[in-house]
Amino acid sequence: MENFTFYSPTYFVFGKESEGQTGSMVKRFGGSKVLLHYGGGSVVRSGLLDRVKDSLKAENIDFVELGGVRPNPRSGLVYEGIELCRKKNVDFIVAVGGGSTIDSSKAIAAGVVYDGDFWDFYSGKLIEKALPVGTILTIAAAGSEGSPDSVITREEDMMKRGATGDAIRPKFSILNPALTQTLPAFQSACGITDIMAHLYERYLTNSTDVEVTDRMIEALLLTMKHEGPRVIENPDNYEARANIMWAGMMAHNNSCGVGRTQDWNSHNIEHELSALYDVAHGAGLAVTMPAVFKYVMKHNVMRFAQAAVRVWGCSMDFEHPEVTALEGINRLADFLTSLGMPKNFSELGAKEEDIPKLVENLCCGNGRDGKISGFVTLDKDDCTNIYKMMI
Ligand code: NZQ
Ligand code: ZN
Repeated sequence: MENFTFYSPTYFVFGKESEGQTGSMVKRFGGSKVLLHYGGGSVVRSGLLDRVKDSLKAENIDFVELGGVRPNPRSGLVYEGIELCRKKNVDFIVAVGGGSTIDSSKAIAAGVVYDGDFWDFYSGKLIEKALPVGTILTIAAAGSEGSPDSVITREEDMMKRGATGDAIRPKFSILNPALTQTLPAFQSACGITDIMAHLYERYLTNSTDVEVTDRMIEALLLTMKHEGPRVIENPDNYEARANIMWAGMMAHNNSCGVGRTQDWNSHNIEHELSALYDVAHGAGLAVTMPAVFKYVMKHNVMRFAQAAVRVWGCSMDFEHPEVTALEGINRLADFLTSLGMPKNFSELGAKEEDIPKLVENLCCGNGRDGKISGFVTLDKDDCTNIYKMMI
């Protein structure tokens, strides 16, 4: 196991009607003037936004609103949010929505207290200071409710990049699984895929003797394998929703990733797809992961074979472990397809002729030096081959 530090100070309020505690949570963490940030309208239609406002009013907390966050959130609204917060002396941001709304809130929070362009953080600068952020989560997926990360797309060149820093870990996150019951099946499946990707990105490690985190990841993958189909079959299954929601947080607050190197190449490769085609992040990952895993499998066949046996129930072929490894990857791919996820480039709406552009942005965009590193370091040729495998 590698040396590590781990700081995860988010206060979680989990369960039915927990959004009623928004006002008291803001008060607890010192907020007096709130920016309520939300997406394209699902929280208005469901009545959630009104309940959140009532909760703030009950604590005499003043607020301003900014809606309109799109999936794959854009820089334009972040600049707007920064302006608004400065003008209205906002001292606390409450995100009501999914990963996109939370990430947009985190970007605004970092930008408000920074003199330069907030995009500096998405070009590698660590976020050390930010306004406090709280979240009311409406989709189990990105894990942003417990993570120190935010992913934004810069509109001028459609560059999708991440920023990080403990300063943007939410002060509180309210997780009411019932709020996810209104999700369309496709979005539920995208979320399940993303959660599983966050687990695999940590499972693919070059560190040895990481039994505790290996076993935690396997347990969470088994949970997703069990609960995923139950939620697709019955969107109102509160207990399955609850297990998936907490798994989504556990998958990405890094409690499963400490003490080990991690991968993140599937995410990097996918981010170019959601930047160029505006596809849902989870859908992009469903197509990306099997291709990446097959391409890098030979680097450590036993790692993939272990997942195949422990998670996917394959029997171990000791003479040909690569057969077991490949079977595990195929079972993952079939599982994602069974949830309704796309399986190739054309189902995503991606085009073969765009591959050079995808590879150029991926390997060289925003200051990268021609390759991406992770479980295996991949250069432009590798990435070209991987995109071709997705056709
Ligand atoms: O915008 P509204 O109207 O709210 O609709 C949303 C959106 O269209 C809808 N939705 C959310 N909750 C709903 C609902 N519809 C009905 N009922 C509900 N309860 O679902 C759509 C997707 O929402 P979004 O916030 O985009 O989903 P998600 O949570 O998957 O976030 C995706 C973004 O997170 C980034 C991704 O790259 C992507 O940009 N990620 C962020 C990470 C982080 N900050 O740690 C890590 C992840 O790996 C990921 O990269
Ligand atoms: Zn993700």
